[in-house]
Amino acid sequence: AEVVEHTFIVGNLTVRRLCKNKLITAVNGEYPGPTINAHEGDTVVVYVLNQSPYNISIHWHGIFQRLTQWADGPNYITQCPIQPQNSYTYKFNIIGQEGTLWWHAHVSVLRATVYGALIIRPRAGAAGYPFPTPYKEATILLGEWWDADVVNLENAALAAGGAFNNSDAFTINGRPGDLYPCSKKHTYKLEVEQGKTYLLRIINAALNSQLFFKIANHPLTVVAADAAYTTPFQTDVITVAPGQTVDALLHANAAPGRYYMAALAYASTPNLPVDNTTTVAILTYKYSFPSSSPPLLPSLPAFNDTPTAHHFYSNLTALQRPKLQSVPLNISEHMFITFGLSLSPCAADQPLCQGVALSANMNNVSFRFPTAISLLEAHFRGVQGVYTKDFPDRPQLAFDYTNPNVNAVGAPLQSSDKGTKVKKLQYNSTVQIVLQNTAVLTAESHPIHLHGFNFYVLALGFGNYNETEAVKAFNLVNPQERNTIAVPAGGWAVIRFWADNPGIWFMHCHLDVHLPIGLGMAFEVENGPTPSSTLPPPPPDFPRC
Ligand code: C2O
Repeated sequence: AEVVEHTFIVGNLTVRRLCKNKLITAVNGEYPGPTINAHEGDTVVVYVLNQSPYNISIHWHGIFQRLTQWADGPNYITQCPIQPQNSYTYKFNIIGQEGTLWWHAHVSVLRATVYGALIIRPRAGAAGYPFPTPYKEATILLGEWWDADVVNLENAALAAGGAFNNSDAFTINGRPGDLYPCSKKHTYKLEVEQGKTYLLRIINAALNSQLFFKIANHPLTVVAADAAYTTPFQTDVITVAPGQTVDALLHANAAPGRYYMAALAYASTPNLPVDNTTTVAILTYKYSFPSSSPPLLPSLPAFNDTPTAHHFYSNLTALQRPKLQSVPLNISEHMFITFGLSLSPCAADQPLCQGVALSANMNNVSFRFPTAISLLEAHFRGVQGVYTKDFPDRPQLAFDYTNPNVNAVGAPLQSSDKGTKVKKLQYNSTVQIVLQNTAVLTAESHPIHLHGFNFYVLALGFGNYNETEAVKAFNLVNPQERNTIAVPAGGWAVIRFWADNPGIWFMHCHLDVHLPIGLGMAFEVENGPTPSSTLPPPPPDFPRC
């Protein structure tokens, strides 16, 4: 095992996209940011120096952070932000996970441009990939681009109590690609050799859009998702929600030539405006004759093609291999969490809000971030008054969550408590959560992300959760392991995990627009009996508020 060291200097960068220059926040003058290459078992040390005008924190999305809980990164959950001209060193071990993860800013909307890949290869001397070693690998970071400054956009949206604007383009490795104005020169190109196999590490780093990804004439074989190996799964189309990753093998065995790889929005909600544009990159065969005709575009799913998305999301299974843990069969904590958007009265700090503001909740609690201390520090030091431990196990209001009749303007408002409520878990408890997506305001698929753990996805479905029916569909043998699950629009998912990682762990919607309006909660996992199951003290350079 090795120590992988990086210095991340967060600062301003001017880039040109869609015919305009724009100032963005970026790491080391790179957009997307630097890739971290590590092996399972390694220690990663990243010294972050904040030379940007904003508060910063970096989250290592999907890393378990066992015994390094202070390095998780979500702002005011595990740490106070790194203020301008300050620094913090994130240090963590990578144990028991292989595949593709990523890192991103976890404060305000800065992850729009502050993100990069975190690649974990099998350690030397270990079994290696559970599939034939690919000839080469390529990272495909999918993102969104706004012409406007994202921080201004967010501030305006919050002040008005409304929603965030759609993006102006999607990007592949930071570039919009051929189909957008002024973008041809910078289109990302991947050169392949006939007959070889490539491993694509696909990451959805977009703020607010689930995406379809497809390559003309090249079916893909999915081998991992969220850094957990899957049973090889053949597919033409990959669906990936913000936060998720998919590793897929690409066999370069089409006729030599040039092919587009394309990504476009998967938006389950036909009544919401959508960025209906397509980003492309070019797959080009080495030694093929230069050609003036454009690359072949794949036939693309419609933006609201829910059957295609659901087929992908619900058919992945874990690759069966000896592993440290298996699906918990005896459950000590049963939770039923409804979540979705609602409307609430305008708040005092929303001067431009007219009448009602967009709000979001889990079990009718709209999450409020603390402002002066992180939850983890309050937990560690026993500081009272920062949060309460009464996050409800079940929704407080009963109604038909998927009744389309309450899906219109004038629908009954779903009242929300605003609060910072956590659910306390005993060390090593086994948790099952039914995640029920509500359609009070809009039927929208929300990607729910849990920090600090992978969970098993037992089943996914549409409509109101019906336990008798659902348990028949539970996969208790080889369920997919995820850190982020796209819960179907007006549907449900059942997840299970072992609460064997002490600390404070955020669970939230990975559509960034839903974070400041409350679509989250946190778990407080108690210490276990041994030093290796006890939350250590914060490091000496831990940021102060
Ligand atoms: Cu990738 Cu809490 O986020």
